[in-house]
Order: sequence, then structure tokens, then C-alpha cells
Amino acid sequence: MLRFALRQAFVTLMLTAPALAASPAEQRGKTFALTNCARCHSIDQVTPSPLQIAPPFRTLHKRYPIESLAEALAEGIVTGHPTMPEFRLEPDQINDLLSFLKTLE
Ligand code: HEC
Repeated sequence: MLRFALRQAFVTLMLTAPALAASPAEQRGKTFALTNCARCHSIDQVTPSPLQIAPPFRTLHKRYPIESLAEALAEGIVTGHPTMPEFRLEPDQINDLLSFLKTLE
């Protein structure tokens, strides 16, 4: 009986662990988003954006392919909205951020 319970626990762990484990790039991207973007944009799957007019990051891929953001981020995102500061990211930071954004799709 105990043996069975242990096996169940192990199987459950094996099934859920890969979904939980974020790659290092995804984690760095998340930290970056948390530090720089989260005060306006929602960066998770459920909550509304703190700043209502800022699109939640989980909706970005519906507007355009996430890859197309890379260029905008490198050149400096300017959205015509004065409340959003202009960001210019290093290539590494862009990779990280895009990896994280893809986890939200
Ligand atoms: C001070 C608030 C604020 C912060 C901080 C902020 N944003 Fe925004 N962001 C906005 C607002 C407001 C909009 C909507 C602009 C509009 O629709 O005109 C927006 C829109 C966007 C869009 C959509 C652009 C488009 O053309 O549809 C992207 C992508 C984006 N932000 C990325 C980021 C990233 C990445 C960060 C962090 C590095 C960030 N934002 C930080 C306020 C913010």
C-alpha cells in the first residue's frame, strides 16, 4: 500500500515537474518583466493589468507574432502612448523576455 502511494507520488511528480520548470532564459525574462513592466502590464495568465490601458502580456501574441517584438524592443519600443517609457533592450534581455512571453501563450 505504501509502496503504491509512493509510486503514485513519483508519477505525479514526473508528470507535473516539466510543466513547472522554467528554463533559465524564461526565468530571467520573467524577472526582467517583473522589474520593468509589471507595474503597468499584467505579466501572468489571469490578473488584469495594473494600468488598465496597458495590454496584458498574455494578449500580445494575439496582436502579432512574439518574434516581431524583438526588433521593436531592440530599437526602442515607442507606442505613441506617453505613459509608457521608451525601452531599449540588449539582445540577451530580448531573448529572455521573448522566451518568457512565449510561456504565456
Ligand atoms: C508606465 C507604464 C508602462 C510600463 C512600465 C510598460 N508599459 Fe508597455 N504599455 C503601456 C501602455 C499604456 C501601453 C498601451 C499603449 C497604447 O495602446 O497606445 C503599452 C503597450 C505595450 C505594448 C504593445 C504595443 C503595441 O503597439 O501594441 C508592448 C509590446 C509593451 N507595452 C511592452 C512593454 C514591455 C516589454 C515593458 C517592460 C520592459 C513595458 N511595456 C512597460 C504602459 C507601460
